[in-house]
Amino acid sequence: MESRDSPSYSSCIFFICLSTLPIFVSAIDPRPQAQLRFHRNGEFKILQVADMHYANGNKTRCQDVLPEQMASCSDLNTTAFLERLIRLESPDLIVFTGDNIFYYAGNATSMDAAFSPAVSSRIPWAAVLGTHDRPSTLSSEEMMKHIVTMNGSLSQLNPPGYTIDGFGNYNLEVGGVEGSSLHNKSVLNLYFLDSGGTSDVPSIPGYDWIKLSQQLWFKRTSDELEKAFRKEPEPQKESAPGLVYFHIPLPEYATVKSSNIVSVKQENVKSASMNSGFFTTMKERGDVKAVFTGHDHINDFCGNLMGIHLCYGGGFGYNGYGKEGWARRARVVLAALEQTDEGAWGAVSSIKT
Ligand SMILES: *[C@@H]1O[C@H](CO)[C@@H](O)[C@H](O)[C@H]1NC(C)=O
Ligand SMILES: *[C@@H]1O[C@H](CO)[C@@H](O)[C@H](O)[C@H]1NC(C)=O
Ligand SMILES: *[C@@H]1O[C@H](CO)[C@@H](O)[C@H](O)[C@H]1NC(C)=O
Ligand SMILES: *[C@@H]1O[C@H](CO)[C@@H](O)[C@H](O)[C@H]1NC(C)=O
Ligand SMILES: *[C@@H]1O[C@H](CO)[C@@H](O)[C@H](O)[C@H]1NC(C)=O
Repeated sequence: MESRDSPSYSSCIFFICLSTLPIFVSAIDPRPQAQLRFHRNGEFKILQVADMHYANGNKTRCQDVLPEQMASCSDLNTTAFLERLIRLESPDLIVFTGDNIFYYAGNATSMDAAFSPAVSSRIPWAAVLGTHDRPSTLSSEEMMKHIVTMNGSLSQLNPPGYTIDGFGNYNLEVGGVEGSSLHNKSVLNLYFLDSGGTSDVPSIPGYDWIKLSQQLWFKRTSDELEKAFRKEPEPQKESAPGLVYFHIPLPEYATVKSSNIVSVKQENVKSASMNSGFFTTMKERGDVKAVFTGHDHINDFCGNLMGIHLCYGGGFGYNGYGKEGWARRARVVLAALEQTDEGAWGAVSSIKT
């Protein structure tokens, strides 16, 4: 949504096939309570914040604002914008898709300041690293470890038992409505990946890519989640929908036909120079409905490629480059559950942004 607009969910709408709910009464192997779950109104809302580029607070000037706005504009405007959006939207989860801080000033101090509106809102939040969260006074690992320990953060360092590239690869489950038949199932699956910085393979220039180790983790996790969803009690007919969050757009973002794009593309897609195949891996698994990245601040489109919606958050932070007169923005996703004639809540029936 644009900063000045009232919420609307018209820019990209997609529906997921409804599945009917067979009735079972056994309660074997109940899953642990999900930390996140759909509301009693059957909805779950996610606010994506991309590219805050937070540096030194009031000492950091803004980029690409109107000349008359320059004097009064600093990182504090980014903070105020985040506070305002949280207040307006009351999301159930806030997701930061990297370049949360800007490395010239990048240390725990700027990170704490950047995330402070999320922390003080007491709304759960999750973050991944971008390209600018890296070459700072902290290593990526230390950076992610710090994020994991912050109040309200559901972020995780990496999945236990995996050797995996990067820091901040994890998934979160969103449970069905309290007391409903899908109370103990994850009805919406969120995946978070570290898309890296710049390539450290000398013969490959440019940005990093989603590595094979990360794809194998995704594949295994998606497979396990599907098995759990199909299992008794309340076995479901297909996977719960998945949404994937990371920083650097996939090369496929550049291949979406303009007729399949909603909202604007104002700059080239800056992805890795090589395609590591993550889009194919997601298509093979079949559960992912949309991917949300940042990185390219003045693109804010969603493009439908073979049924996976490739979306940008749109640049959020005033210390990130932007476009004069084009408001900083964020993306809101609203997932809604199917309701039976008897009023009971079921699986996810629509996801809108
Ligand atoms: C920034 O904030 C500090 C501490 O709140 C204050 O002392 C300083 O004057 C401010 N600087 C600017 C440029 O506004
Ligand atoms: C930044 O914040 C200041 C102080 O609230 C405000 O006067 C100014 O208009 C803001 N600038 C932008 C570009 O929003
Ligand atoms: C972080 O960087 C800022 C600005 O360079 C500095 O004032 C602050 O002391 C640093 N904090 C830590 C914990 O290193
Ligand atoms: C984190 O939350 C705990 C419990 O509410 C509180 O005691 C602590 O001060 C908080 N820490 C920060 C850094 O906000
Ligand atoms: C969910 O798990 C809890 C705790 O194990 C159990 O009491 C409850 O009956 C289960 N609910 C459903 C709908 O399966």
